[in-house]
Amino acid sequence: MPAEWWRSAVVYEIYVRSFADADGDGVGDLAGIRGKLDYLVDLGVDAIWLTPFYRSPMHDHGYDVADPRDVDPMFGSLADFDGLLHDAHARGLRVYVDIVPNHTSNEHPWFRAATANVDAPERERYLFRAGAPDGGPPNDWESVFGGSAWSADPTPGGTGYYLHLFDASQPDLNWRNREVRAEFVSLLRYWFDRGVDGFRIDVAHGLFKDSRFRDGKANAWDQDEVFDIWREWRKVADGYDERAFVGEVFLYDMDRVAQYVGRQKLHQAFNFVVARTSFDADAIRTTLRRALHLFLRHDSAPTWVLSNHDLVRHVTRFGGGDLGRRRGLAFTAMLLALPGATYLYQGEELGLEESDVPPDARQDPVWLTSGRVGRDGARTPMPWTSDGPGFGFTTGTPWLPFDEQANTRDARSQSGDGTSTLSTYRRLLAARREIRHRWSGSPRWADRTDELVVVEQELSDGSTLLVACNCADDTVTLPVPAAAELVVATDHADLDGGSLTLAGATTGWLLLRR
Ligand code: NOJ
Repeated sequence: MPAEWWRSAVVYEIYVRSFADADGDGVGDLAGIRGKLDYLVDLGVDAIWLTPFYRSPMHDHGYDVADPRDVDPMFGSLADFDGLLHDAHARGLRVYVDIVPNHTSNEHPWFRAATANVDAPERERYLFRAGAPDGGPPNDWESVFGGSAWSADPTPGGTGYYLHLFDASQPDLNWRNREVRAEFVSLLRYWFDRGVDGFRIDVAHGLFKDSRFRDGKANAWDQDEVFDIWREWRKVADGYDERAFVGEVFLYDMDRVAQYVGRQKLHQAFNFVVARTSFDADAIRTTLRRALHLFLRHDSAPTWVLSNHDLVRHVTRFGGGDLGRRRGLAFTAMLLALPGATYLYQGEELGLEESDVPPDARQDPVWLTSGRVGRDGARTPMPWTSDGPGFGFTTGTPWLPFDEQANTRDARSQSGDGTSTLSTYRRLLAARREIRHRWSGSPRWADRTDELVVVEQELSDGSTLLVACNCADDTVTLPVPAAAELVVATDHADLDGGSLTLAGATTGWLLLRR
């Protein structure tokens, strides 16, 4: 891969619990992933991102870390991790792992020490505060999962509260404390030394809260002081070869997100505005143009994300069923053609929709805390075969149930079908491999008012990639240069000397050789 591989990588997010279960306990594990690396190589991705596999009581499915230097026995062992890393590298795959700096588990030894007695020096590492004069929480901040962000201090004799912007089992760390800073630098080195290629940073817009704890949501997040941390971490990464950070900056203000990246800050940040963009030509054009402009200007690269383990699967967002799938593919094909790194979420290559998980099977703390449906529907296991009840994922009982999609949308059936979503992803990723080192100059967007997004990207050999996405439901025909060749399309596309006909909700890539 090229220098600064992260700029153009296709990264595949593995939600470890739900990818592949090797030991039959119903939960995915590292050995399971190791056994599926060839599937990922055939798919054509450049890197994988593993969600947290560290020791954890799993109240937030691993984002509540109790020991960030060890593997939870549910997922395997450090030896399994080293084996997976070795095998991934041997196949040319880079590996991002998650790091969770905003909070720890309440079972982390630090929080245990902090709550052992009210004079414990370890209390400084978390955010304990006295209650308001009426005895209620110190301020009005809310937990992302529902309810107050403050819970009663469980320390014997404790009378106040501790802060948790997520679950009560995830106490927030005090980033103004030097021991916290030092611990995370040491943790970065621990995993970099083991060979990981990068970190996906959880809640990268969190960490610092208003130092006076004033009311108001804006005071709980996104404080400028966090940039000092990213500068410090960048120096650590730059001391190694070719390592990268991608921050989960969950803000919908692209200008602000772009402040997190640059030569001295994070390499990249997820841009969730893309995931919020509807399948509409104007909306797509506006978001993509702006993202390219902003992130390239900051000497980063755009990140293209439609789905992850926290979002409703995009096929469902785009209307569900065949139409939702066609739209999802068309949007993805547009993103894959553009400079930047594309992040895929496991199962999207199978065209999976959000699963309808029955209430009694739901496990997301969002559901348990607030009664909102939550994220379980995006987290159901991968159907590898159409053989129920385990669908090639497990020989045991899956931790979240499969729904009827597993009967027909499994990886094995789709592998043998050239018209499947999986086969289309493979063709797209193969086509992208041919061009991704050759992007040169800025993309040129055709000025249009209809339901077509058309962009031309120059390649370094002087040829041009012309990408057209038909966002309408009906077929359209557009004029293209007579010598254009069709490289790949997500559905029916006909090129007839000088005119391209695209089915509804379809993207085609054309090559105009020099
Ligand atoms: C973002 C993660 O993606 C999500 O799954 C988790 O619940 C929160 N951060 C808290 O760590």
